[in-house]
Amino acid sequence: MYRGTPVNCLHLGMSIHVDLPGPLHRHSTCSCTVISQQSYSFPLFTTRWVSFFLKNIQIQTSSFSFFSSMASENSQIRIVTCAPSSYPKLIPKLALLLKECVHNNIVMNFIQPFSIEEGEKFWKDLEQGVNENKQFIIVALEGDPNERVEPVMLGCVILYLSQQPNAKHRGEIGKLIVGREHQRKGIGKMLLTVLEEEARKHGRTILFLDTQTGSKAETFYKRVGYIPVGVIPDICLAPDGKELTSCTFFYKRI
Ligand SMILES: CC(C)(COP(=O)(O)OP(=O)(O)OC[C@H]1O[C@@H](n2cnc3c(N)ncnc32)[C@H](O)[C@@H]1OP(=O)(O)O)[C@@H](O)C(=O)NCCC(=O)NCCS
Repeated sequence: MYRGTPVNCLHLGMSIHVDLPGPLHRHSTCSCTVISQQSYSFPLFTTRWVSFFLKNIQIQTSSFSFFSSMASENSQIRIVTCAPSSYPKLIPKLALLLKECVHNNIVMNFIQPFSIEEGEKFWKDLEQGVNENKQFIIVALEGDPNERVEPVMLGCVILYLSQQPNAKHRGEIGKLIVGREHQRKGIGKMLLTVLEEEARKHGRTILFLDTQTGSKAETFYKRVGYIPVGVIPDICLAPDGKELTSCTFFYKRI
C-alpha cells in the first residue's frame, strides 16, 4: 500500500502521494524535483519503490537522478546521457565495467584475457558516433554533486540509432552493464527507461538486442517488458573461449 508523503514533479505538473511500507523506510522522504532541463532527482529510499514509480508514471525526460536519503543527504545516483564533451573522461570507468564483465565470462563480444586498454579502445571507437548523435551512452553515476570527488560509475548502456535508410525508426541496445555490487537495485531498469526515452526523442519506435541464452540478463529483459523472439544456437564463443554459446533476440515497441 503506498500512501502519504507527497511527491511533486514540477515540470510535469503532477503530484503523487507515497508512504513507504515497512519500518525500514519510516524515515525515508520522497520528492521528485526538476534539477535541470533534462535531469530529475528522486530520493532513493528503496529501489523497489522506484520501480513502482517508474511503472506507474510516464516520465518525459532522458535523464534523471535519485537521492539516497539514508546514506547521505546529498548522495545521488544520476542516470545521464553523456554529452559529447563529457564522454571522453568517462571512458576509463566504462572500460573497467566492460573488463569486469568479460572476466566474469559474460558475453560482450570479447574473449579473455581482456585488458583495460582493449576496453578503452572499444569505448573510444564510439566517440565519433557520440559526437554525431548516432550513438548514445547512458550511464548511472553515484556521488555528491557538491563534492569535488569523482562520481562512481555504477552502470552503462549504449543506444545505437540504426543508420540504414530503411531503418530510421529502429534502435539497438548494447553493453547494458551494472557493476556486480550494484545489481538488483533497479539501476538496469532505470538505464533502459532513459534509453527508451532517448530513442523516442530520435524518432525510434522499435528497439532490439540479443543476450546470452540462460543468463540473468535474459531474465531481466523479460521482466522489463522485452519480447523474446528466438534463440540462435552456438552463435558466439563464450568469453573464456572454451565453448560456443547461444543468444536470445528480443525486441520492444516503444
Ligand atoms: C542484467 C543486468 C544489467 C540487470 O541490472 P540490474 O540493475 O541488476 O537489474 P534491476 O535491478 O533493474 O532488475 C529489474 C528486474 O529484473 C529482474 N532481474 C534482474 N536481475 C536478475 C537476476 N539476476 N535474476 C533474476 N531476475 C533478475 C528482476 O525481476 C528485477 O526486479 P526485482 O529486483 O524487483 O525482482 C545486470 O545483472 C548486469 O549488468 N549483468 C551483467 C551484464 C549483462 O549480462 N548485461 C547484458 C548484456 S546484453
